[in-house]
Amino acid sequence: MQKLFDALNHRFDADLGPPAETIDETATLKSMAARRSHRRFKPEQLSIELLQMLCATALSAPSKSDLQARDIVIVRDKAKHARLAEMVGQEWIPSAPELLVFCGNNKRQRQIHEWRQKPFENDHLDAFFNPAVDAGIAMQAFMTAAESIGLGCCPISGIRNNCDVASEVLELPEHVFPVVGLGVGWPVASGHVSVRLPLEATVHVDTFKDDAIAEQVEAYDNRRYAIHHAANQRQVERFGEVAKYTWSEDKARQYASPERADFGAFVKSKGFLLK
Ligand SMILES: Cc1cc2nc3c(=O)[nH]c(=O)nc-3n(C[C@H](O)[C@H](O)[C@H](O)COP(=O)(O)O)c2cc1C
Repeated sequence: MQKLFDALNHRFDADLGPPAETIDETATLKSMAARRSHRRFKPEQLSIELLQMLCATALSAPSKSDLQARDIVIVRDKAKHARLAEMVGQEWIPSAPELLVFCGNNKRQRQIHEWRQKPFENDHLDAFFNPAVDAGIAMQAFMTAAESIGLGCCPISGIRNNCDVASEVLELPEHVFPVVGLGVGWPVASGHVSVRLPLEATVHVDTFKDDAIAEQVEAYDNRRYAIHHAANQRQVERFGEVAKYTWSEDKARQYASPERADFGAFVKSKGFLLK
């Protein structure tokens, strides 16, 4: 396994070294520092027992006020997997051995109010936001657990491309919504480490500062381009083809067209007021 600081320094183009404290470079630190998304897997499915163990580990993660406002749907039915994969439209998802959907759940909270005969006086943005954050935390905890035993994962925001389909296939009731999907399996390739923006741009001490952000992004673009860059340029018919297709060019092109513009309407259709 790669050394912790080698992995971090490569990813962030940093010069980090051991801290003043004596720490063990644990396997968890090293696997987190060197992690990468995986989208190519051996065909074997995982046992339901392994999935349950990983879900239990994931749901041991913190939860806002212990509300436990997130659920995981393990999609084992092949027809449901295929329908969701078709809706998402990414070529690797049909062959992902396992597909999970992390959902925000505010229904349970509302039921508790009914059973306890207390008014639910928090029908505002938090009713949606807290479950969404809880679901994201659970997804990351699942990934950390899965990656620690050599599994590969890749999150899928595309599960929200058409929330009506996800909602119908998974039979999600009012106040329950998909946050993110996750493809899981034993990886067949080592994948590649995606280098990140420098820590000077993304980690702040005491005050937020971004005075040097333009230069930092340009330097990051250049470094990242030299290490690894996207083979396919987005929206060539609209923006043309450029010789040097950098990260910021890719992100600007990506968000130059609407993605999931109907998500807010879907969330409202599930009963959230979002006020
Ligand atoms: C919330 C979330 C949604 C994502 N959705 C997708 C997706 O729909 N399809 C995909 O291939 N990757 C998806 N990813 C993976 C990112 O593309 C990936 O994390 C990013 O490119 C950085 O690469 P790395 O994970 O290897 O470091 C998602 C990641 C997150 C955190």
